[in-house]
Amino acid sequence: MRSLKLAWSLVALLTLVVAFFAYKFTAGEAQPSQDGRLEIQLTPDERNTFLLEMRTWMQSTQAIMAALSQEDYATVAKLAKAAGMEVEEATPAVMFKKIPLPMKKLGFDTRAQFDAIAADAGQKNMQRTLGQLGQAMNNCIACHATYRFSDGLVGQAGR
Ligand code: HEC
Repeated sequence: MRSLKLAWSLVALLTLVVAFFAYKFTAGEAQPSQDGRLEIQLTPDERNTFLLEMRTWMQSTQAIMAALSQEDYATVAKLAKAAGMEVEEATPAVMFKKIPLPMKKLGFDTRAQFDAIAADAGQKNMQRTLGQLGQAMNNCIACHATYRFSDGLVGQAGR
């Protein structure tokens, strides 16, 4: 009887440990910051990687609009695809786990919207593509309004 109880306690304990690590891996961490947004602590390298990804995203968005104004839908599709989910495949897991779950969802949703722009570009419907771009960019705004990265210098000499 006692060993059965012990076995169940062990199962319960292990379940808790697994749940804790599963939570740690997917939940990420963000803290309140001075400007009212939630701040995510990254190393300088991680921050640089993310910000480069952001600047590339802005560049792609501009290039999509320029191609659209020329009614060059093949280029719209190519650029939108390259700004879609395939970018996330290159993000290292260690960085990923620092991003809070709602932010990850917002990021994935935005990438998926770029995939949809790519998929629909063949319809050659400028109004539709512009509407999709406007909607996707609402996500850029929403995420920037809610989250920021730490300057990456916390814990370094002199801080
Ligand atoms: C899921 C969240 C999220 C989404 C979606 C998002 N961003 Fe960002 N972006 C951030 C964060 C966080 C920063 C850093 C802001 C800070 O620390 O003040 C940032 C910074 C930037 C920067 C500044 C880069 C630099 O070098 O300082 C640009 C440009 C940018 N984003 C463009 C975009 C564009 C364009 C989109 C949409 C197509 C977009 N972002 C969507 C989270 C996001």
